[in-house]
Amino acid sequence: MDTLEAIEKRHSVRDYDDKPIGKDTVDKLQNVIDDLNSESGLHIQLVLDEPEAFSEEHLSYGRIHGAKNYIALIGPDDQELEEKCGFYGEKALLEAVKLGLDTCWVGSTYKKMTSVVDIKKGERFLLIIAIGCGVNDGESHKSKSLDDTIISEGERPDWFIKGGEAAFLAPTAMNQQKFQFVLHDGNKVEAKTYRAYFCKTDLFEVGAGKDNFEWI
Ligand SMILES: Cc1cc2nc3c(=O)[nH]c(=O)nc-3n(C[C@H](O)[C@H](O)[C@H](O)COP(=O)(O)O)c2cc1C
Repeated sequence: MDTLEAIEKRHSVRDYDDKPIGKDTVDKLQNVIDDLNSESGLHIQLVLDEPEAFSEEHLSYGRIHGAKNYIALIGPDDQELEEKCGFYGEKALLEAVKLGLDTCWVGSTYKKMTSVVDIKKGERFLLIIAIGCGVNDGESHKSKSLDDTIISEGERPDWFIKGGEAAFLAPTAMNQQKFQFVLHDGNKVEAKTYRAYFCKTDLFEVGAGKDNFEWI
């Protein structure tokens, strides 16, 4: 499965079975996380066999059932943290999808288990991504209009439309999709987001092809 196929396949899954993730898959995912940490300066951690994070039984929305494995997004507590966690977290998530796992970003409907992760001085534990074997595939989310989301001063090249379409498949908190991509001077793209997590910029890059444009 390539990354674009993983983007298309992914939906949030909130019901998991209790099968452990195989060692080979764990090792591959750990390697991905190590590489992403080196590149980003984040301190992303894989947490296995830890169901407590999902034990909030009172929730009417967003209860994650049966999960016990997750990716904890942790990093230096600076102004870039949320943006980086979105961008690199989504990269880790898509690799998990390629390895056959189901996933769900969880920013609020979980218990933050600080005792099971390593938080260095100056770091903040921001949110998690549940991973595991889902008992269903989740559902497609509703999307806003592409015309409201990819804005151009002139023509909209094919790569720009493909980037927008890939970004549309991104998970966003409460499915708000509050983002726009604006094309300037034919190849300069400005990402406007009203929330700080940047999952969609990663997906836009995959859809558009990084050689076709530069971020401004
Ligand atoms: C930053 C972020 C935080 C999220 N937090 C939660 C959460 O706390 N609980 C939950 O059930 N889903 C959460 N989600 C998942 C979104 O609800 C989901 O991505 C959105 O409804 C779109 O559906 P899809 O992922 O199936 O495409 C979060 C997603 C993102 C990107």
